[in-house]
Amino acid sequence: RILPRFYHERVVDHYNNPRNVGAFDKNDPTVGTGLVGAPACGDVMKLQIKVDEETGKITDACFKTFGCGSAIASSSVATEWVKGKQMEEVLTIKNTEIAKHLSLPPVKLHCSMLAEDAIKAAVKDYEAKRVVANNKST
Ligand code: FES
Ligand code: FES
Repeated sequence: RILPRFYHERVVDHYNNPRNVGAFDKNDPTVGTGLVGAPACGDVMKLQIKVDEETGKITDACFKTFGCGSAIASSSVATEWVKGKQMEEVLTIKNTEIAKHLSLPPVKLHCSMLAEDAIKAAVKDYEAKRVVANNKST
């Protein structure tokens, strides 16, 4: 448990009750996996999206984060924000929006950066898999 008095209540909430912790099968063709690390601290975040192939809509998301409370809270928020959105839409999610939502202090900005990077990496992974799948089927 982290010390509530140093953090915004939303950070504490997401840290103590993280949403969507878990993992999808990374070989599932409808799953995109983003695995990113923060050079500043060595923390690692894995964020996965499940995509409806017809509509390009993200139907589900999950994460596993080895990192600080702010990183865990940022990934938890990120999974909530991407669910139900189009892939192009989630590419516009900025770490500054996540940081603002959680009132992260400036030294914790890189933690929310992990979440932005992880979302982008997950979308990229999904798209790369689709290209491979399309090439196979033609
Ligand atoms: Fe969970 Fe805002 S407190 S998304
Ligand atoms: Fe490294 Fe937060 S201190 S992700």
